[in-house]
Amino acid sequence: MMQKILVTGATGNVGQEVVHLLLLQNCHVCAGVRNPLKAKQILGSNVQCIPFDFTNPDTFTKAFKEVDKLFLVRPPALANVRQQIAPALNAAKLAGVEHIVFLSLLGAERNSFVPHSKIERYIDQLGIPATFLRCSFFMQNLNTTHREDIKTRGELLMPTGNGKTSFIDVRDIAAVAVRTLIEDGHQSRAYTLTGKEALTYYDVADIFTSVLGKPIRYNPSLLKFVQQTHSSGLPIDFIFVMVAIYTTARLGLAGLITSDTEQLLNRSPITIRQYIEDYAECWL
Ligand SMILES: NC(=O)c1ccc[n+]([C@@H]2O[C@H](COP(=O)([O-])OP(=O)(O)OC[C@H]3O[C@@H](n4cnc5c(N)ncnc54)[C@H](OP(=O)(O)O)[C@@H]3O)[C@@H](O)[C@H]2O)c1
Repeated sequence: MMQKILVTGATGNVGQEVVHLLLLQNCHVCAGVRNPLKAKQILGSNVQCIPFDFTNPDTFTKAFKEVDKLFLVRPPALANVRQQIAPALNAAKLAGVEHIVFLSLLGAERNSFVPHSKIERYIDQLGIPATFLRCSFFMQNLNTTHREDIKTRGELLMPTGNGKTSFIDVRDIAAVAVRTLIEDGHQSRAYTLTGKEALTYYDVADIFTSVLGKPIRYNPSLLKFVQQTHSSGLPIDFIFVMVAIYTTARLGLAGLITSDTEQLLNRSPITIRQYIEDYAECWL
């Protein structure tokens, strides 16, 4: 019988791509979402959507019914793993989920404080076979979180100094996720997913300028970053998290390059130039 795959974070950057690629493979896919009506508008009316909320245990039994595999995305706002993520994982175990593919973070194995590290350890404790996808910075942060700065002020504003980042396109992450979900041999494995090159934001600004045909400047000021994000209404704890993440990049900890993405996809990862060409209309 065809295996059933539950995708969490299905309306988000990576989850959307995973759902669509699984459907192209004719898999039995179900999107676990907080608001099925809204999700169908995003994903398409043909996509099976089921209510699922990490913070509402009443949704777990139905959502995990007959699920064989789980694509697990930790929503960025849920940082308390014990209270906000573990209950759903307990329910997955109880329901007999056989394999979890977890969207994790570059370096999670070395940084026990990040939620992704705690989630990896909790999945291992439960004894559910898993694949951890430890991803570098998403290119798509540039057309979501940073879109307005780039579009309206022609500015890349992030406090990363000269630090290099091995950006990865979420379309590549989703393609790897789908392969590890539908193919045997990826259980009890961790992959570090990066792009093929590590670039400074000065490099990225130059590529933006060349592709968009309008000047885009990199501004590494920490003070301006905090002022700007605060005045745009982002909560202060979220701003601190962003500063912490960009500090790791400034310190050179985000530039690691591996061959995992290329090996799993049998092709080169998408370059940042290709990504900017594909998404150009977002910033014009
Ligand atoms: N951005 C990066 O550079 C980067 C790099 C490595 C790893 N990561 C990790 O990737 C993850 C984020 O992935 P993403 O960018 O694909 O996600 P995203 O676009 O931020 O979307 C978050 C998803 O979580 C859902 N969600 C929010 N609260 C929920 C809840 N209580 N219960 C169930 N679903 C909920 C949202 O659904 P609604 O439609 O209901 O809001 C949405 O589908 C994070 O764990 C992040 O740390 C990010």
